[in-house]
Amino acid sequence: MKFKFILGSLFLMFSFSVFADGKNIFDRYCTACHSPSMAPMFLSPAAHDKSAWDIRKSNALEEAIKKNPAVRGAVGNQKENFILEELVLSAVNGTDNGMPPKGTCNDCTTEQIKSAIIYMSSEAN
Ligand code: HEC
Repeated sequence: MKFKFILGSLFLMFSFSVFADGKNIFDRYCTACHSPSMAPMFLSPAAHDKSAWDIRKSNALEEAIKKNPAVRGAVGNQKENFILEELVLSAVNGTDNGMPPKGTCNDCTTEQIKSAIIYMSSEAN
């Protein structure tokens, strides 16, 4: 019982810290092109815009399946992870349609880019 509580608290602390890190990075580097007011101009997915991110996520899933057909069978968290990894890859490398590599945060680690994506693709503000 106590053990479960400690594990639960650690997990909560971990998720909050990933989220906080993601928000900081977003506010510093990504908001210039991904804030709801700037996104239409850049044709980028706006932060917390569920329908915009749903499209990105389904494209990312298609991309992941192209590389590894086994992804098609993935469900739940495993599927979400494949999608996230694909979005991270695309953000780290940048795209031909205006997403700069690492979103201009050259000092960011891949984990930090991932946390910014988790933050901006979530529905919460
Ligand atoms: C200079 C403007 C600019 C900045 C700064 C920027 N982005 Fe982007 N981003 C874009 C544009 C434009 C797109 C849409 C590109 C496309 O459709 O290929 C995009 C798309 C994305 C996507 C979706 C990629 C996909 O494959 O669908 C992710 C994820 C992303 N950005 C993450 C970030 C993160 C994280 C940051 C900050 C660290 C960031 N961006 C900073 C312009 C920017």
